[in-house]
Amino acid sequence: MSERTFSILKPDAVRKGDAAAILAAIEKAGFKLVAIKKITISKQQAEGFYHVHAARPFFGSLCEFMSSGAIFPMVLEKDNAIADLRKLMGATNPANAEEGTIRKQFAASIEENAIHGSDAPETAAFEIGYFFAGYELA
Ligand code: RTP
Ligand code: MG
Repeated sequence: MSERTFSILKPDAVRKGDAAAILAAIEKAGFKLVAIKKITISKQQAEGFYHVHAARPFFGSLCEFMSSGAIFPMVLEKDNAIADLRKLMGATNPANAEEGTIRKQFAASIEENAIHGSDAPETAAFEIGYFFAGYELA
């Protein structure tokens, strides 16, 4: 069944000039780009996005990082999009990421790991709504 997921090309990937290569890999894997934009968010906006991680030791550093430069939030669509994007992204820590995954190829560390992907239908719905208005997804 066709499904939507939410993704972000993180500041490390944008800084390094890897955005187009990562987008090409995503499209080649069969995802349709429903919406995409280039923005820079404040630390406070990053904290709102990652609120589920507020109690984690890496929360402050993560939110500094996510507000450190331009990002590309995007909405992607395909059958089984949520699980398939997570598979294509690879493990959070690139040292554990499988060959052929985006993080294996483009991530530098467990924090600066190039891409975000929603982990469940409920988080995808929250995350899409956090960054996009309904009219941008028509
Ligand atoms: P994401 O939410 O960004 O798609 O990544 P994920 O599900 O693979 O990982 P998650 O556990 O949700 O963590 C969110 C992001 O926080 C950073 N992180 N840093 N220093 C650390 O130990 C650590 N652990 C996680 C990463 O940027 C991770 O993607
Ligand atoms: Mg996550």
